[in-house]
Amino acid sequence: MKKYSRHAKVLHVDSAKRSAPEYFGAMAEEYDSLIRRAVPRYDEMMERLMDYLPPRAASILELGCGTGNLTLRIAKKYPEARLVLVDAAPEMLALTEARLAPRRATFVAARFEDVDFEPESFDLIISSISLHHVRDKASLYRVLRRLLRTNGTLRFADQLRGGTEANHALNWERWLEFCRLPGNCTRAEVRSLLDHAAAHDHYTPLAEHFRLLEQAGFANVDCVWRNWIWGVITAEAPMA
Ligand SMILES: C[S@@+](CC[C@H](N)C(=O)[O-])C[C@H]1O[C@@H](n2cnc3c(N)ncnc32)[C@H](O)[C@@H]1O
Repeated sequence: MKKYSRHAKVLHVDSAKRSAPEYFGAMAEEYDSLIRRAVPRYDEMMERLMDYLPPRAASILELGCGTGNLTLRIAKKYPEARLVLVDAAPEMLALTEARLAPRRATFVAARFEDVDFEPESFDLIISSISLHHVRDKASLYRVLRRLLRTNGTLRFADQLRGGTEANHALNWERWLEFCRLPGNCTRAEVRSLLDHAAAHDHYTPLAEHFRLLEQAGFANVDCVWRNWIWGVITAEAPMA
């Protein structure tokens, strides 16, 4: 894993050809506008995630900080905590660093699939709309369990597959209707979101998330908020 470079090159190729972090890195400046036009109840989802956080955490890992929308909330809630922020897009890390200043954090440019810290390094692991980019969630959850201390906490918001094909199709249709509302996404933006999703997104049904989390050693697995394809999942790391 490496610290990011401020001068990383942005690849101007279509959304299916570039990796997910390249896609997000290239749109870093427009991200905050687009995300609210493309994700219904984005801020509400973030607030629900915040509601279910533990009262104290001394060390926190965030996977996929993006432009720092969750990071800033976390930094405010835990003013003394050590923050470690992982994102494979250097442009996103740079934006978050600028927004977070003067608060310091450790910024790590790495893929989630490659995160490598000492076991039991964190009290809390958080993420927002990022983990669906990982295909092998069984491996990811095993790593996250290893990185959490006993009684540590995992909280994430993400895009989910419906529990049935019919539900997934309906959720997807509702999402596209939202994107196409006047003032939301242009046709080109919808096309780009769909191309990106087809190339890089790996949606998992809630029941499968629960099964994989429990298999990895998590307990008290729950979904505390859901709206169409979006959900907020909570889990704890019990004594092994
Ligand atoms: C949809 S954005 C979410 C950003 C922010 N958490 C939010 O809720 O607005 C996903 C972020 O995850 C990063 N990302 C996607 N796939 C990744 C991967 N496999 N490894 C590391 N970062 C990844 C992207 O660069 C991007 O910043």
